[in-house]
Amino acid sequence: MHQNNQNIQDEYQKAADWLLAHTKHRPSMNTFGLRWKTPARLRADTFVLSPVQGHAGRLVFGELRGKTCVCMQGRFHMYEGHSLCKTTFPVRVFKLLGVDTLIVTNAAGSLDDSLRPGDIMILKDHINFPGLCGLNPLCGPNLDRFGPRFPAMSGCYDAGLRRIAMEIGKQLGVAEVMTEGVYAMVGGPNFESIAEARLLHRLGVDAVGMSTAPEVVVATHCGLRVFGLSLITNKVVKSYDDPEAVDHEAVLAVGRRRAQTLQSLVMELVSRLDIN
Ligand code: 6GU
Repeated sequence: MHQNNQNIQDEYQKAADWLLAHTKHRPSMNTFGLRWKTPARLRADTFVLSPVQGHAGRLVFGELRGKTCVCMQGRFHMYEGHSLCKTTFPVRVFKLLGVDTLIVTNAAGSLDDSLRPGDIMILKDHINFPGLCGLNPLCGPNLDRFGPRFPAMSGCYDAGLRRIAMEIGKQLGVAEVMTEGVYAMVGGPNFESIAEARLLHRLGVDAVGMSTAPEVVVATHCGLRVFGLSLITNKVVKSYDDPEAVDHEAVLAVGRRRAQTLQSLVMELVSRLDIN
């Protein structure tokens, strides 16, 4: 193997070994949420630091409804200037920890008029705009230990998990604010211009955000099962007659309003998974 590849692989293994030495938990799931049983909180700045307000930069290991999980509090974003290798680093570390399923969440703006702020969009597929232009975390020598040179992305959002999530939505009485759709990642950090928003809309994008696709690409490459959801925090402005600017504070407020529902949804999904 190329010497450089070996070095990169060693970095993932070193992080995984450090974590295994610092917690008794052996997670099969990666997710987010509260209401942990016997949580262990580990500062993991080296690979989960995030300077965005409201992000703690920690990994939490613990049990959620009897399933051992590891949760990222905070993540690196491409728009912060981090390499995609750094952005996606935790995903491969989780793989080495024995994680089987990755649950990813984000905040996104809606292009489809039927999606309103506060709605929850289950990711059916994505358009990885940075990836299409060569900003892809899998660029460079392939790490065969994790997956193939040319991985398929069809079916990267597990159909079974999507179906279960919609069932749970009905149970929780939030089905009318849940739908499936196509998420597009753009680089950010600016929100879209009106012309860009119109372009995305015409391309069939339902919601747009600035994260997630690279992590999902790396997770799919190494065989993790993926479930993704977007919390719709605002409508993307598509009209010159109504050029209302996106307000970051309003985006955060929608997050707070739906936090409880999202937690219940994820907890219930975790409890229904066919793993330990
Ligand atoms: Cl309007 N655009 C992007 N790119 N990301 C977002 C958003 C909009 N709203 C929340 N996240």
